[in-house]
Amino acid sequence: MQPSLFDNDSPDSQQKESPNRFRNLDVLYENSKNCTKCTLSATRRNFVFGEGNPQAGIVVIGEAPGAEEDMQGRPFVGRSGKLLDKILEAIGFSRNDVFICNIIKCRPPENRNPHPDEIESCMPWLTMQLEIIKPKILLLLGRVAANTILDNRQSMGSLRGRIIRWNSYDVIVTYHPAALLRNPNWKRHCWEDVKMLRHHFDKVC
Ligand code: URA
Repeated sequence: MQPSLFDNDSPDSQQKESPNRFRNLDVLYENSKNCTKCTLSATRRNFVFGEGNPQAGIVVIGEAPGAEEDMQGRPFVGRSGKLLDKILEAIGFSRNDVFICNIIKCRPPENRNPHPDEIESCMPWLTMQLEIIKPKILLLLGRVAANTILDNRQSMGSLRGRIIRWNSYDVIVTYHPAALLRNPNWKRHCWEDVKMLRHHFDKVC
């Protein structure tokens, strides 16, 4: 049998029944990686599916792959990714303890914000990822992720710093690492948010 892309993700280890037709992340990846549902497929180098623990209690969701992510086919591996690694480390997690992915799986040219039609085309992949992983907690990085998932237009200030119940998930919103690189003053808010994340994880997972 081929080694799985995802640690512990053999069909046998996927005991939780999934309501979608893909039985595990490997199968979903195989069925999504050649996606052409939007025009970003024409300019991408790689479909950036996401990576980490397929049975994670926490799924970390960013906005969209950047240049480095597009090149490597992996999420959060550029400058923002290095900062995300440090943020996770600060609360005792490695990348392999969580699952990391994005709202959209292909890089928008010039790193522009994803267009609504691109988000709409891509969201089913994320929905299916969540149905398979069944995390307890979502950590949403930045406004695009937060406003898309929560289907609102609220500001960071009103979304961060609390736990929001959405569908079957407990959602925590914090600043996107790229925003923290531009505005280091926001790092203390992010620190409060991820301490809350750790505390909540220890309670529910
Ligand atoms: N920014 C994101 O939102 N996602 C990535 O994967 C990298 C940078």
